[in-house]
This record gives sequence, structure tokens and C-alpha cells, in this order.
Amino acid sequence: MKFSTFILTISAAACISAQNTTNTNATRTAELLEGLQKAPTRLARLNVLGENTDWLFDFTSGLGTTRSAGGNVTAANVANFPALFANGLAMTIGQMEPCGMNTPHTHPRATEILYLVNGEMEAGFIEENGARFVKNTLTKGQGTLFPQGSIHYQTNTGCDPVLFVAVLNNEDPGSSQIAQRFFGLPPNVTQATLGDIGLQEVNDLSTGIPDSMAIGLDQCLQKCGLTRGNQTMGQQQPRTSDNALSLNMK
Ligand SMILES: *[C@@H]1O[C@H](CO)[C@@H](O)[C@H](O)[C@H]1NC(C)=O
Ligand SMILES: *[C@@H]1O[C@H](CO)[C@@H](O)[C@H](O)[C@H]1NC(C)=O
Ligand SMILES: *[C@@H]1O[C@H](CO)[C@@H](O)[C@H](O)[C@H]1NC(C)=O
Ligand SMILES: *[C@@H]1O[C@H](CO)[C@@H](O)[C@H](O)[C@H]1NC(C)=O
Ligand SMILES: *[C@@H]1O[C@H](CO)[C@@H](O)[C@H](O)[C@H]1NC(C)=O
Repeated sequence: MKFSTFILTISAAACISAQNTTNTNATRTAELLEGLQKAPTRLARLNVLGENTDWLFDFTSGLGTTRSAGGNVTAANVANFPALFANGLAMTIGQMEPCGMNTPHTHPRATEILYLVNGEMEAGFIEENGARFVKNTLTKGQGTLFPQGSIHYQTNTGCDPVLFVAVLNNEDPGSSQIAQRFFGLPPNVTQATLGDIGLQEVNDLSTGIPDSMAIGLDQCLQKCGLTRGNQTMGQQQPRTSDNALSLNMK
């Protein structure tokens, strides 16, 4: 069976049944993490990970999966797959809807290599101040790299779902969404940063930011005959008095 067929098959299986043959047991995961932190050597850690299934991560179980309008992301990291402890890597599987976009974000602790299983995708990044914008169109079977800390995005430019596999060189890579975090700063700070666009405008923009696997580009939606439906917005920055929206101000 071809790799892409295999991945698509296991993805489809996930919709039918989520069998808990693997580490979806939160109590077990907590026990393992506690044991691993106390284990001084590689051999000691092997003994902590005493069940063979402690080494298995089921990307179809729903564990580590976030579903949004533009697609699903399943992230295996040390928090949900303790076998990664002290191994320095993590993996993310992305299922992108037609025109879906993994919105601009950074991984503060990891460089990412991404492999596109099927279809076509645009991917771009900016590494730091002074760095040029790097953009590529990937087709099935191609991969690209996002340097640690770079602001990067991927968008499905086709009218069929696509699947990608990404490896990150840290077991705790972290993710920081640019729009959610920037618009989560105090609105007066965001306003001044944007050249004084107005507090009301900042408030309006802040409250409309969709979750990270979002519905993507207008040009793609038009090409595919799709319309931009409602999107979930659960990943915006929580507000306290220190970064409160000031809806009465203009
Ligand atoms: C399997 O794991 C999922 C996710 O942790 C949980 O919601 C579900 O209840 C579990 N199913 C069984 C049969 O244990
Ligand atoms: C989950 O893990 C705990 C701790 O290892 C264990 O006692 C419990 O039986 C497990 N539950 C299931 C449903 O496997
Ligand atoms: C995301 O997950 C849902 C629920 O399993 C599924 O219906 C949908 O097809 C998935 N999206 C993609 C792009 O695979
Ligand atoms: C989108 O949300 C609005 C306001 O909640 C609602 O009136 C509308 O029916 C929704 N549209 C779709 C396509 O779900
Ligand atoms: C900016 O707005 C925040 C609320 O979002 C407020 O707590 C803070 O005092 C304001 N800063 C200044 C310097 O006015």
C-alpha cells in the first residue's frame, strides 16, 4: 500500500471508530511523565515505559486533535505521548479542507520539516527582521522547512482535502498564533503599533479572528465555488483587566 493511501485509510478509519489501543489513558500518561522525570538514565526510562503500548501513539484516536473549519491538526508531543521524553522531537499530522489554512504561527522551540502527502499547498515563512519572505508551492511528495521561531503558514490551494506530516525537533515545540497573540495585547498597544488605526477597529479585528486551521484565501474559495462560512473562534487571547477590550472608546 502506498504511504499516501495508508495515511488516508487510517484517517478515514478514525471517523468510524476510535479504539483505545494506545495511550489515551490520561492517568497512565500522568504516571509515565512523573516516572520519566525521576528516571536518571535511558535504561531507567525504558523501564518506566514498561508497556509496549506506551510506545504507540494513535493519530486517529482523537488524542491531540483540534478540529476547526479549515481542517484538523493532530499533535503528538511529550504531554500526550510520554515516550517522546528526552528524545527531542514531536510530530503533527494536518488534514486541511479545500482552501483551508494553517494560519501564521511560530514554534518557539523547534524547527519543522513538513511533507505533503497529496494535493497542493502554498507555504511561506519569514525568519526574523531583515530576512526575506520565502514562499513555495508544494505538490504531492514534496516537503519544506520552517526554521525555529519563524512566522510561517500553509494553505491548501486546491479544491480537495490535503494531508501533511510534520516533524519538529523538540518534544515540546510549542505554537504561538501571530494574529491571536498580537491582537491579545492591550488594544491601546495594538492600535499604536498599527499606526493608530483606532481602538474600535482593533476591537473589531480582535473579536473576529478564527481558530488556527481557518478557511483560507478568497481566490481559492472562488476557484472552488466555496463560500466562507462561520468559523470557530476559541483560540483568541483570554482577556483580563490588563488587556481588556475597550468597546466604549473610539
Ligand atoms: C477512548 O478515548 C477517548 C479519548 O480519550 C475517550 O473519550 C473515550 O471515552 C475512550 N473510549 C473507550 C471505549 O474507553
Ligand atoms: C488507566 O491507567 C491507570 C494507571 O496506570 C490504570 O490503573 C487504569 O486501569 C487504566 N484504565 C484503563 C481503562 O485502562
Ligand atoms: C476533520 O475531522 C472530521 C471529523 O472526524 C472529519 O469529518 C473531516 O473530514 C476532517 N477534515 C479533513 C480535512 O480531513
Ligand atoms: C453564521 O452565524 C450567524 C450568527 O450567529 C448565523 O445567523 C448564521 O446562520 C450562521 N451561518 C451559517 C452558515 O452557519
Ligand atoms: C492600555 O489599556 C489597558 C486595558 O486594555 C489598560 O489596562 C492600560 O492602563 C492602558 N495603558 C495606558 C498606558 O494607558
